[in-house]
Amino acid sequence: MDSGKQLSGNLVLAVFTAVLGSLQYGYSLGVINAPQKVIERHYARSLGVESDDLTGVSMEPGNSTELVELHPSVVMYWSLSVAIFSVGGMVSSFLVGFVADYRGRIKGMLAANVLAIAAGLLMGLAKMGKAHIMVIAGRAVMGFYCGLSSGLVPIYVGEISPLAYRGALGTLHQLAVVTGILISQVIGLDFLLGNDAFWPLLLGLSGAPAILQMLLLPLCPESPRYLCIMQGKEEAARKSLKRFKGEYDTSKDIAEMRAEKEELMKEEKMTILALLRSSVYRQQLVVAMMMHLSQQFSGINAIFYYSTAIFERAGVTQPVYATIGVGVINLVFTLVSVALVDRAGRRTLTLIGLGGMCLCAIAMTVGLVYLNTYSWMSIVSMAAIFLFVSFFEIGPGPIPWFIVAELFSQGPRPAAIALAGCCNWTSNFIVGMFFPYVEVLLGSYVFIVFAGLLFIFTVFIYFRVPETKGKTFEEIAVVFQGKRKGANTATELEQLKSSTEA
Ligand code: GLC
Repeated sequence: MDSGKQLSGNLVLAVFTAVLGSLQYGYSLGVINAPQKVIERHYARSLGVESDDLTGVSMEPGNSTELVELHPSVVMYWSLSVAIFSVGGMVSSFLVGFVADYRGRIKGMLAANVLAIAAGLLMGLAKMGKAHIMVIAGRAVMGFYCGLSSGLVPIYVGEISPLAYRGALGTLHQLAVVTGILISQVIGLDFLLGNDAFWPLLLGLSGAPAILQMLLLPLCPESPRYLCIMQGKEEAARKSLKRFKGEYDTSKDIAEMRAEKEELMKEEKMTILALLRSSVYRQQLVVAMMMHLSQQFSGINAIFYYSTAIFERAGVTQPVYATIGVGVINLVFTLVSVALVDRAGRRTLTLIGLGGMCLCAIAMTVGLVYLNTYSWMSIVSMAAIFLFVSFFEIGPGPIPWFIVAELFSQGPRPAAIALAGCCNWTSNFIVGMFFPYVEVLLGSYVFIVFAGLLFIFTVFIYFRVPETKGKTFEEIAVVFQGKRKGANTATELEQLKSSTEA
């Protein structure tokens, strides 16, 4: 789509509305970190284990950094409250394709909002019932919602974005995620909502953006690609294109979609199983899944879930504020990525990001290992953590979320997003669940594991991922066909591309 008005008011409204779903995802990711101790204390009280079985816990609200030994059932209910979120996401990511295609992108997002609001209510009203059950149920439903929205948002935004801004607009999903994380870190401070009185409100607020999104979605035009290619409604697609781009000649855009539809008619409908079996899309699928695995196995969420503990280990005296510092850096570098991604390209930024993170993981390890020998090593560790996050947001954070929509044409796109999303949620769950155990096992050397993984991912991306910047969905497909036929060098791919354009 490269004629007509590029950045219209309706496009801005539609992207803003869609990424409210991403904001909610970020908020839910970050919100569980700060109020951990107060909620654990509440669980202990409602389970009736606070006086006899709970050793060393201060029941004074606000005493949040104290090291406590908790009753095993409190630990279990807490871990479940954290981890069930990713399980919800793992399950629902499989349904993204179905929800996106059933009644359209807009109606899919609208229906999903019901889940977010229900989850918000369950958590917000937790004190009225058995708090641990209500929170776990709320987190599961919220995870389910986030699995859907982290697929639906990139599909919709990818489909409505003009070619020249597809990267920048795609990165807004991640910008909203990191904004959500930062908001939850700040309002989760103990003198704001992260205290005994207000923690249910803090958790319940994660449903709030859904209310705004529900009000705005009916004002947003449906994706023209969905209308034309999936539904065969050309007139409706033309109307929608005009709402996005103003009065202009839509014939070129419609012709492009028609061509894609013809291609699509030649294939069977792409279910997840069909996509897994298809040799035509194997290369793209491997790349898509590896991009998501590299995002999560980079170890980023080891920082986001356990930053306070990591900063303590690195000798920082005010770990909570250092965590907020990480949130701010995270936001700033996502903005850098928004500015760079359509100029520098996806491949370059991912390579710089993963390579940089690999070096930072090594620096973190050196810092932690020599912390007791040289006191200035705490500065090294701290700087390494901040740089680690910065490199993440330049490429490996935002790019996987939208590149999958770029790598696949309309037919297999929803199934591909579902599979890639499932990889993301599963690896997120694995890191969240097992990092503490690996840390016990390896101590200060824990980040070496991530350094090794990051090295492998960097090499993979270098050899296997082509640049998608500025290419239409059809051109990207041609690049992969070329790869299958053995045209592996950049020059050969360029030749192949220009021969198809001619
Ligand atoms: C990405 C990841 C998410 C992570 C966040 C950090 O959105 O998918 O797991 O917490 O970046 O900014």
